[in-house]
Amino acid sequence: MMREGPSSALGQLQQRFGADLIVTDPAQLAVVSVDHRQLYRGQALALALPRTVEDVSALLALCNALRIAVVPQGGNTSYCGGATPDASGQQLVISLRRLNRIRSVEPENDSLVAEAGCILADVQRAAEEAGRFFPLSLGSEGSCQIGGNLSTNAGGLNVLRYGMTRDLVLGLEVVLADGRVLSTLSRLRKDNTGYDLKHVFIGAEGTLGVITAASLKLFPPPAFAATALVAVQSVDAAIELLMQVKHDSAGQVSSFELIPRSALELVQQYVEAAEIPLALESDWYVLIEITSSQAAYRITEILEQGLSRAMEQAWITDAVIAQSERERQNLWYLREHIPEAQRRRGESLKHDVSISIDRLAAFLRQAADWVAQNVPEAHLICYGHAGDGNLHFNLSQAPGSATGALLAQQDRVKRAIHDLVQSFDGSFSAEHGIGQLKVTELERYSSPLELELMRQIKRGFDPNHILNPGKVLNV
Ligand code: MLT
Ligand code: ZN
Repeated sequence: MMREGPSSALGQLQQRFGADLIVTDPAQLAVVSVDHRQLYRGQALALALPRTVEDVSALLALCNALRIAVVPQGGNTSYCGGATPDASGQQLVISLRRLNRIRSVEPENDSLVAEAGCILADVQRAAEEAGRFFPLSLGSEGSCQIGGNLSTNAGGLNVLRYGMTRDLVLGLEVVLADGRVLSTLSRLRKDNTGYDLKHVFIGAEGTLGVITAASLKLFPPPAFAATALVAVQSVDAAIELLMQVKHDSAGQVSSFELIPRSALELVQQYVEAAEIPLALESDWYVLIEITSSQAAYRITEILEQGLSRAMEQAWITDAVIAQSERERQNLWYLREHIPEAQRRRGESLKHDVSISIDRLAAFLRQAADWVAQNVPEAHLICYGHAGDGNLHFNLSQAPGSATGALLAQQDRVKRAIHDLVQSFDGSFSAEHGIGQLKVTELERYSSPLELELMRQIKRGFDPNHILNPGKVLNV
């Protein structure tokens, strides 16, 4: 193991916490120093692996005193480089992976308390074992951690029905920059005692404090699901269908995912065992799921009736309703493997935007036209959570285009798409966060007053600027 002189920052960390907590093994540092999309390659000073909130507290207290910058990291699945250190070799990555206990489950209160390093799928499982449901669901749920979900206010597949991560939180435990522990692990649904501090940390990407645990809301388990893959005439028709099914099911639509043919073709080409149960004859498809804790036949009936009315209106041209859990899983498999298929295709430019649903189709037409006319190197793969207005307006490398050609267009494309989003009163960051990727975007699209207030908050919580520098906000 490499040991630094006792007076260096690393030496002091090693001396105080020992080799179990402060890791300098180059192979381990290499893994935590690169982001999931391999857009950012940094160099960590070391990797801290605290086991308890007290460890995190002591680490931050020392880092604050020595002015060592820290980069909190969960499952390292950020799309925006939010958990990747810079190249200075001076930033300490703090992985929360060892804080992975479910501290308690309170089924009668519909809540549980999970530590930040719990894998999202383990939180879901803990809820399920108690006869409850934790609705946050993302493609990366097998590896992302709840602390990262909270820090980025992740969205995912069920926002339409249950809201964003922020909406699922009752309380938080957070270690502040100076090591003090703020515990607001409330289990209450009603608690109007002054400013609601937890919301400052949710979505702050570790720039205001390090989340170590959360009290989360649970729900009755959706024991029955009716799921369909539907070929729609157009994006406008998809929105008509959404409104109708939402109405017919009295708000029980939990997912409504828009998928272009281009994405299904990519999945067919690059993902093993992808079975597409419909002919790929339409430009657009939607994956709809209605869930209920009531008997299965009722929601299936609602979905069938909705689809046949949509067929009469010529909004849809074809549909397949899953007849078994296996078929349902297969439909979700197709949707959830779109990012992987895109990765396998090669370079990509991703835009995580949201637009109010009534203007979604118009935005998409204009944005797609712009790409067609201006970016010949791109193959548009725009899909996403249309039910809540969130589109992943992604561009993949067109077949035959040279390596690097698409990435070279990144700034120009980003500017055009985000300016268009702005003209539709939308958001350039719907569910993936800001990280390092969108710092300049935040600066461009926020008002001076918003930026001033955000900077005041940052200064107030992190006066020495040690928490995840270079992320979210230029200070
Ligand atoms: C998804 O919904 O699959 C994602 O959030 C990922 C993406 O932007 O590709
Ligand atoms: Zn998404």
